[in-house]
Amino acid sequence: MMARRCLPVAVALLAAAGALAQQPADPLQLVGQSPPTVPVPAPPVPRAVTDDVRRARNYPEQPPVIPHAIDGYQISLRNNQCLTCHARQFIEGSGAPMISVTHFMDRDGQVLADVTPRRYFCNACHVPQTDTQPLVPNTFRDALRTR
Ligand code: HEC
Ligand code: HEC
Repeated sequence: MMARRCLPVAVALLAAAGALAQQPADPLQLVGQSPPTVPVPAPPVPRAVTDDVRRARNYPEQPPVIPHAIDGYQISLRNNQCLTCHARQFIEGSGAPMISVTHFMDRDGQVLADVTPRRYFCNACHVPQTDTQPLVPNTFRDALRTR
């Protein structure tokens, strides 16, 4: 009786395992085509896209990507170079877009006078771009551009 009840479960599990095994599991895709134990010269670091053109966001909540160089822009406990241009009080001089109001909200939704600690480390969300091929395929499609 018990065994008969377990059989469909076992079959389903086997089918799931089979489906998993069919996934292309290629651990080398992320580390390159050579075996991880073989030393190879590092590829050149691709140049950052620095054309100053603000990119459209792929979905409304996407942190916009950075269209300028960020080399040497330090972010430390006492100093945040990004804010020297993007803070509310400096945008008139810098011409940079102001950090949006969400950057002033604490976790309770209270709007603070200055940037909230949870938005202080800009690069946790905003990244510069390089003109390179993606390491792994990506099938993301914008909901508004489905064709
Ligand atoms: C010298 C001033 C300056 C500094 C410093 C600076 N930015 Fe910018 N940033 C700009 C300007 C101006 C723009 C508008 C586009 C352009 O001209 O590149 C911009 C655009 C951006 C955008 C795109 C916004 C959008 O809506 O598309 C992001 C994101 C951004 N910066 C993040 C950063 C981060 C993160 C840092 C620190 C690592 C930083 N910026 C440092 C001036 C600056
Ligand atoms: C936790 C993630 C996160 C961090 C950290 C963060 N941002 Fe953002 N940022 C976002 C998101 C998400 C958006 C778009 C939606 C929004 O405004 O909240 C955004 C929007 C922006 C914009 C565009 C504003 C506009 O009105 O178009 C700028 C400029 C920006 N961020 C700069 C910064 C700077 C400078 C810092 C560091 C002081 C920073 N961000 C830290 C997530 C983050």
